[in-house]
Amino acid sequence: MTSPVRLALLGCGTVGAEVVRLLHEQSADLAARVGAPLEIAGIAVRRIGRDRGDLPVDPALFTTDALGLIKRDDVDVVVEVVGGIEPARGWLVEALRAGKSVVTANKALLAEDGGTLHDAAAEGGGDLYYEASVAGAIPLLRPLRESLHGDRITRVTGIVNGTTNFILSAMHATGAGFAEALEEATELGYAEADPTADVEGFDAAAKAAILASLAFHSRVSAADVHREGITEVTAADVASAKAMGCTIKLLCIAARGADGQGREAVSVRVHPAMIPVTHPLASVGDAFNAVFVEAEAAGQLMFYGRGAGGAPTASAVLGDVVAVARNRLAGVRSASESAYADLPVRPMGEAVTRYHISLDVADRPGVLESVAGVFARHDVSIATVRQGPAAGAAGAAGDAVLVIVTHTAPDAALAATVEELRGLDIVRSVASVLRVEGGL
Ligand code: NDP
Ligand code: HSE
Repeated sequence: MTSPVRLALLGCGTVGAEVVRLLHEQSADLAARVGAPLEIAGIAVRRIGRDRGDLPVDPALFTTDALGLIKRDDVDVVVEVVGGIEPARGWLVEALRAGKSVVTANKALLAEDGGTLHDAAAEGGGDLYYEASVAGAIPLLRPLRESLHGDRITRVTGIVNGTTNFILSAMHATGAGFAEALEEATELGYAEADPTADVEGFDAAAKAAILASLAFHSRVSAADVHREGITEVTAADVASAKAMGCTIKLLCIAARGADGQGREAVSVRVHPAMIPVTHPLASVGDAFNAVFVEAEAAGQLMFYGRGAGGAPTASAVLGDVVAVARNRLAGVRSASESAYADLPVRPMGEAVTRYHISLDVADRPGVLESVAGVFARHDVSIATVRQGPAAGAAGAAGDAVLVIVTHTAPDAALAATVEELRGLDIVRSVASVLRVEGGL
């Protein structure tokens, strides 16, 4: 058999340890698939002395000198499962410029500065693969960067964060509030001790940027993504969604469309939204991920599976390792970054969708007319209005709750409507504003 393909593994935590385990358990199959054995040349970690259980690997392979490991002549492929921007960016640029192939799961880095990595790969002539960076085990990026290159993708709608999907699914199933559902997610190990990146939508926004870049052949970074998290979603919102035959999900939405000047552009956003329970994404429960892709010729495609966890993520990492190792043996590289379209990103104000607005108002004659007048002034058309008693102890006597669902309107028009509503003395508070996606 041909001489081995040698891997430098950067990181041996949740994902890295499973990569080691799978490399060991499947070594014969992997060698047969690649056409050469895959060998670990070294493993860079932060703490050499950390207890790594019964990991099937020679302890002498561990080092704290990641850069030294990357620079070794006997390293062909660098697998980065450390995370974060630096020092990972410096390491990967060094590896790629030196002509090594890189496999990474680092969504934060790809979303912040993927362009620098792609440029370094083009310079060095190696491959840059990152299937595990979005939706863990789900084969999604390869279809976007290869299988769908004969088609024109129009929209990508996804549930790409498992932690928030677990929380929202629990709120829907039990009627619990956000804090209670987050506590359950933490107890079960879904949410991290600091859940900010998940519940505030940063993790999903990074994934949205990666998906939009691939789907629309343009460089989109996390800074281009409009982001809202789920911390303000209440049990009352979930109950209202249910009453409308909907559920609430944290969606990432990347879509083609024309900008204010009629030029082709993309919009990329992450926010909680109501979707009808009949929508394919509505039944994605627990901590699962799913991505719904719409393309002109292919029509609608749905990708579903586990978006996180050591073994599922390692599966995606190893799939990439096999692909880049095969390429190295064949002396070729896969198609490089496709960013030729260079589409601009539209401001959120131009995004068009429907809205569910819940208002606490005074319950007296003329209130509905005044409220409707505000919507009319901003050219936002009302689809339905529902009035109910003011909620629980918070509701004062003589108050009511108005739930208004609109037809489609630009986000800027809705924002101006809400601002004017807040200034009316008959509006006690704007209790919530949620977008409604996926038709009703
Ligand atoms: P962990 O925190 O579990 O592991 C990180 C690893 O990196 C540890 O082995 C740590 O060393 C090592 N490390 C940290 N800093 C350094 C440093 N300066 N030099 C050398 N090694 C360092 O992370 P995960 O395995 O969970 O995640 C890894 C990557 O995979 C991230 O980019 C993440 O976003 C991505 N990812 C993770 C998923 C998951 O479910 N966990 C899902 C999809 C993607 P030590 O062991 O000594 O502490
Ligand atoms: N924290 C992420 C999630 C997993 O909850 O989906 C890694 O992408």
